[in-house]
Amino acid sequence: MKVYLETYGCQMNEYDSELIRAILKEKNFTLVDNRDGAEIVLLNTCAIRENAHQKIFHRLDELKGQKRRGEVKVVGVLGCMAQNLRKNLAEHAPVVDVVAGPDSYKRLPIMLGSVLEKNEKSFDFRLSEFETYSDIAPRRLPGVNAWIAIMRGCDNFCTFCVVPYTRGRERSRAPESIIAEASRIRAEGFQQLTLLGQNVNSYRHGDYDFADLMRDVAQQTDMPRIRFTSPHPKDFPRKLLHVIAEHPNLCNQIHLPLQAGSDTVLERMNRTYTLQEFYDLVDEIRETIPDVGLTTDIICGFSGETDADFEKTYQAVERVGFDSAFIFKYSERQNTIAYRKFEDDVPEEVKTERVMRLNELQRNISLERNRAEIGREHTVLVESPSKKNPDQWLGRTDQNKGVVFSAQHLKPGDFARVKIIDAGTNTLMGELLQDDHNPFQIVDAVPAVSGSTL
Ligand code: 5AD
Ligand code: SF4
Repeated sequence: MKVYLETYGCQMNEYDSELIRAILKEKNFTLVDNRDGAEIVLLNTCAIRENAHQKIFHRLDELKGQKRRGEVKVVGVLGCMAQNLRKNLAEHAPVVDVVAGPDSYKRLPIMLGSVLEKNEKSFDFRLSEFETYSDIAPRRLPGVNAWIAIMRGCDNFCTFCVVPYTRGRERSRAPESIIAEASRIRAEGFQQLTLLGQNVNSYRHGDYDFADLMRDVAQQTDMPRIRFTSPHPKDFPRKLLHVIAEHPNLCNQIHLPLQAGSDTVLERMNRTYTLQEFYDLVDEIRETIPDVGLTTDIICGFSGETDADFEKTYQAVERVGFDSAFIFKYSERQNTIAYRKFEDDVPEEVKTERVMRLNELQRNISLERNRAEIGREHTVLVESPSKKNPDQWLGRTDQNKGVVFSAQHLKPGDFARVKIIDAGTNTLMGELLQDDHNPFQIVDAVPAVSGSTL
């Protein structure tokens, strides 16, 4: 049976899709990379905001027609939306045959079998306190970056967030198994590794913590670039900052979700830090890693957010000067604490206006910060041809900024030295640095020095 798997949502879902591919392949399903001709279509879904659900309902509508015409035999919804809506999903959308949550993927072959053989719908949303999938070797698509989930689930219960309900309790994977997988990935030729967790600060194996893990992955694998996402500002490990500063292969980049700038809102969100504590953390990060790339997530229009609260978020964004920010309208999610305790009382047009104002501010800040890069030199990891101009390359700096530049004789996975000659809001423009000994300046994997001199 030919299976086509589509992935929506975050990087954790991308990684989970690699696990799902491995699990299905093991049971002799054939995975295809083209929608046409697949008898089984699986959607690995997200539930973080209502528009993530809407996208899937729309896709299910399309699949209804294909199933009626006999082109598709089985439709499965996997992941966070499956866990969130459970059986209601199949009742709302009868086209769905299989509903499987994030801890149910090992049972997927049996579930698909029961639909194919007995024509029975199959549901599974048992969340586990133990499942880490550490015994499965993911089937990765070729590329420059590989992901490893080091922990799963979340126990923070931010009041707006559905993740603790869709991905269950926090559990960490053993360090030895992570390091072994990281070494295997390197041997397969990946140049970058991203360690994933809903909340990486909570990674723990006895006394061994996330900073220990980052240090050991950096030292025991010769992976040229290692990134991680996402930490929580409330208990960001200070030890980690020094580990990052001391290891050139740990990238100088931190994604630090602020969510809101008003202490009242932060408290209602159950973020358990104040704006001042966030500022102190940012100052310490910048002191320890001076050329760090800093990005964030912000929610506009959370329950009870007043104009004055929003102004505090606006001022916080101005003061911190993030390199970029993901800015979202609050979207009420069923089951969450906010859904049960607060009213979604900020009008839609106010949410929209706040998002627009904040985006405009952030665009100006990003542009200003990118312009400050003009004249500097960076080592970039070549990712792919540029989307806008396929004759040019897109590479990334250590800080995770995209650089577009022209060069022949390069391929994805190469490192190149570039000088920044221009800057836009989202991307830098670079010029390949050449010299007589190494005309294309393809540099060895691990840069000799880290920090702003790069
Ligand atoms: N509404 C809007 N944005 C949300 N996020 C999480 N839950 C919601 C929600 N209910 C945002 C947060 C988080 C990012 C992944 O998505 O900013 O950091
Ligand atoms: Fe990822 Fe959260 Fe969406 Fe689940 S709900 S796919 S964890 S972003």
